[in-house]
Amino acid sequence: MIGQNIGWIPPNFAYDTNQIVSSHGSAANARLCATCHVAFTTITDANGVLIQNSVGHLFEAIPCTKASNGVPVPCATATGPDTMHSFVACSNSTCHIGGPSVARNAYLATKGNIDNLLDQIWTDANANGVIDSTDGGLIPQLVARAQRATATAADTAAINFGSNVTTVAKGALFNAALAATDNRAYFLSGTVLGKSFATHMASGNGVHNPFLLVALLTSSIDALHTTYALPAPPRLNVQMTAPPGVRMRLSQR
Ligand code: HEC
Repeated sequence: MIGQNIGWIPPNFAYDTNQIVSSHGSAANARLCATCHVAFTTITDANGVLIQNSVGHLFEAIPCTKASNGVPVPCATATGPDTMHSFVACSNSTCHIGGPSVARNAYLATKGNIDNLLDQIWTDANANGVIDSTDGGLIPQLVARAQRATATAADTAAINFGSNVTTVAKGALFNAALAATDNRAYFLSGTVLGKSFATHMASGNGVHNPFLLVALLTSSIDALHTTYALPAPPRLNVQMTAPPGVRMRLSQR
């Protein structure tokens, strides 16, 4: 993970450790954080007159742009959909070749894939920030188990955030929080069986290390099934292993 914890390692996690550095942290990206977060942009008006040299000190990786003159500004979610973000920093001779739209497609595909995987872990159906037995996904099934009259100590221990014991369920939620996107921000702060959990967003909406995040989530989902003998819902987007822009770049090496 670029500059971040590599996550909770699920049982039987098979991942090439050479990949941990991420395509976004490879030699192709010599400026690392700065490539995306400190992008120099020159803004000119329709007549070619220089309006502003933006040196990128906003630290916004994919800023929005002012409709009036194209100057980068922080992108509030309320500003509009992901399609409004500027991906100019992502497109150059070594990164997403083919222009900003190629990078945008990779971003949208990765984020959608991560959101689908997160939904299999927990969907906060009533948006109350609590993992309820009636919510969607695998962890709510464990909540239902822990709340049965016949619940065993093991049923409760699996998702007891009041203990310092790491379990597969808690590890899966850790990885979900690591991968959380702004569409699924409830993984960053919530309550389960009366105990709360909280962390900061870290995934850069999936961009910081897309492949590792997807590998961690799919392995965490598999571990939830096998450890707790949970029924298997169909996996969504199973065919998607790499966003289109990334596949294109790798194939040109
Ligand atoms: C390949 C591009 C890229 C690189 C390299 C990158 N980031 Fe990010 N980062 C992003 C994107 C995209 C976002 C999400 C921005 C958004 O949604 O508005 C982000 C968001 C963030 C955030 C806000 C919290 C979050 O996770 O959304 C922090 C903090 C951050 N990055 C730090 C860093 C640091 C530190 C580095 C270098 C060690 C780094 N980033 C490298 C693309 C990148």
